[in-house]
Amino acid sequence: MKAELVPAEVRIFPDGESKTRLPKVSEVAVVVQSTYPPADTHLLQALMMARKCADDGAEVCAVVPYLAYSRQDRPFLEGETVTISLVEKLLAAAGVSHLITIDMHSRLGMSYFKSVSIESISSIPLLAEYAKISELRDPIAVSPDTGGTERVKDFAARLGWQTLILRKSRDRATGDITVEDPGVDFKGRDAVLVDDMISSGGSIVKGAQMLRQKGAAKVVAMCAHALLLGDAASKIANAGVTEIIATNSIPNEYAKVDLSESIAGALSSRYHD
Ligand code: R5P
Repeated sequence: MKAELVPAEVRIFPDGESKTRLPKVSEVAVVVQSTYPPADTHLLQALMMARKCADDGAEVCAVVPYLAYSRQDRPFLEGETVTISLVEKLLAAAGVSHLITIDMHSRLGMSYFKSVSIESISSIPLLAEYAKISELRDPIAVSPDTGGTERVKDFAARLGWQTLILRKSRDRATGDITVEDPGVDFKGRDAVLVDDMISSGGSIVKGAQMLRQKGAAKVVAMCAHALLLGDAASKIANAGVTEIIATNSIPNEYAKVDLSESIAGALSSRYHD
């Protein structure tokens, strides 16, 4: 973007509180902070940096490739709060006027963004480009749940592949996942599971087990955000997934698809100079 890079000084105190320091900025400040775990710490740091830039008089755009708390877009159980709506209010209070994120979890989540405008960049074109160069036999694109229908259809359309939408249900109290038998056979075909995020790995594990049971030869998992918490990666490997491919919204060994050009493109078209 030919923009000036201003490194932030970040300190975490023994009690877990953060402190950020930035030089004075003006005009437009783009605060880049992905809120992967520790999510609360990273979110607070982003808010601190945004507030400082806003106090300096800058227009603040937050680039949060992985936006924590976006899955709680409604109260699933009585007594819960809609955390993504709270995050919007926090960003607004910190002086953020625009937010750029990658693959926002749901349209409902986006609907809470009233004071802060939101732009969700799809990672699907980049993931599909990566899939083009992968060695796959007669592949089929699979969504692990109905919520990912639009995503998987977009992915498959770019590649001319068939799609399959699995029907997943999750027990809200225990977190247990079940997947319905899709009633089709994949003998010898490869399958690519496409999701917005892999967190505990439960959705991909159940999806992969079902695909293998139905005869899929090779199962690959692709997602925007590979959180892969705890032993998720080994559980996924044990379920027969040979490769996990993700974007670099979260820096780890699965971050094989670079988002920087897409984000820079969105920023350049918004802030022309
Ligand atoms: C669900 O709606 C999401 O799209 C993902 O499938 C889900 O959040 C992945 O979580 P986990 O890896 O814990 O199953």
